[in-house]
Amino acid sequence: MPEAESHTVRVDLPGREYDVVVGEGLLADSGAKIAALGFGNRLAVVSDSNVAPLYSGPLLESLSSAGFEPSLHTVPAGEASKSVSVVEEVCREMIRAGHDRSSALVALGGGVVGDLAGFVAAIFYRGIPFVQIPTTIVSQIDSSVGGKTGVNAPEGKNLIGAFHQPRLVLADTETLASLPAREFNEGFAEVIKHAAIRDGEMLDDIMKVGGPRGLGSLVARNVAIKARVVEDDERETSGTRAHLNYGHTIGHAIEAAGGYGRFLHGEAISLGLVAAGRISSQKVGLGVDSAQRVNAALQKFDLPTQLPADIGTDQILDLMKTDKKFAGGQIRFVVVPELGSAELRSDITEEEITAAIEALR
Ligand SMILES: NC(=O)c1ccc[n+]([C@@H]2O[C@H](COP(=O)([O-])OP(=O)(O)OC[C@H]3O[C@@H](n4cnc5c(N)ncnc54)[C@H](O)[C@@H]3O)[C@@H](O)[C@H]2O)c1
Ligand SMILES: [Zn+2]
Repeated sequence: MPEAESHTVRVDLPGREYDVVVGEGLLADSGAKIAALGFGNRLAVVSDSNVAPLYSGPLLESLSSAGFEPSLHTVPAGEASKSVSVVEEVCREMIRAGHDRSSALVALGGGVVGDLAGFVAAIFYRGIPFVQIPTTIVSQIDSSVGGKTGVNAPEGKNLIGAFHQPRLVLADTETLASLPAREFNEGFAEVIKHAAIRDGEMLDDIMKVGGPRGLGSLVARNVAIKARVVEDDERETSGTRAHLNYGHTIGHAIEAAGGYGRFLHGEAISLGLVAAGRISSQKVGLGVDSAQRVNAALQKFDLPTQLPADIGTDQILDLMKTDKKFAGGQIRFVVVPELGSAELRSDITEEEITAAIEALR
């Protein structure tokens, strides 16, 4: 029998604690689990044009048999739906469908749907409760946990948003089976990042992954990593949550240099992780063999570890300087002194970063 058991990770935030349940086939039983939260009977389900045709049927059925009256709101798949205009559209659709402050919301989809729908829940009638049902690796191990919600502005990503913690997260790992290979692999960049900053031994399990089946315990282990970081630093004030930016300073700039169409986020982060590993080896003593283990894990998921020749180092550096993490001319850079631990430094020089980017060629 495949992994039938489910794993529950508690996110322990004072007054806003919630469970993340991870397991195969949770969707079928989601109605009962959501009913246990004690919401009213009106639910707005927000999904996207790829996910709704696959999974809204079983979800709506389960919700209806648990006594809910759900309405479905589908946005176009893709990052472009994380916009203020789509927020307005979803809110207005919900109003027309009769929702009010007694309603609750369910986000069914990847990180795009979770961030958008979570933000709608944060502001609809000044805030209604919501449940996340994440359907991608990234959303199951990262974006559905921690309460960061929001949309993009034309000026930059994730600039308009709110902290709004979900009341429950149901990560049905069976849904991962329908992810296109590239999207499936992409998600492992963040899994490998978690291993580097919090759990070096997890790299062994990552190397054993053989596809979307049986991922429950690995997903749960990553949810626990994210949950502990969020508990330590919910609003990114103490610096702990910044550890999650490992690989992201250079990675974000590479993502931008590719015009956001060339690399998926995880692919750009893969390159950022290789560069950050090199800097960690040179600056804080990360073993070269340890950095190599991270790179091998990235390669296992066909994630890039070499930068295409036509992307210039200067272009990446310029983009890095416009990133919000480049505070007051000083780069706040996360390094890994040994696998499983991370440190935020502000003494990484532009020369060291330049050399690490050059080494990607
Ligand atoms: N809030 C946070 O803390 C946080 C953290 C990390 C990322 N994010 C955000 O998450 C977003 C990226 O999330 P993502 O990688 O899940 O992207 P996504 O939501 O765009 O999903 C990727 C693609 O897969 C499709 N899809 C989703 N689930 C599927 C399934 N089970 N089967 C088949 N297709 C499926 C989607 O329609 C989409 O086309 C970004 O906007 C990012 O900013 C937020
Ligand atoms: Zn990321």
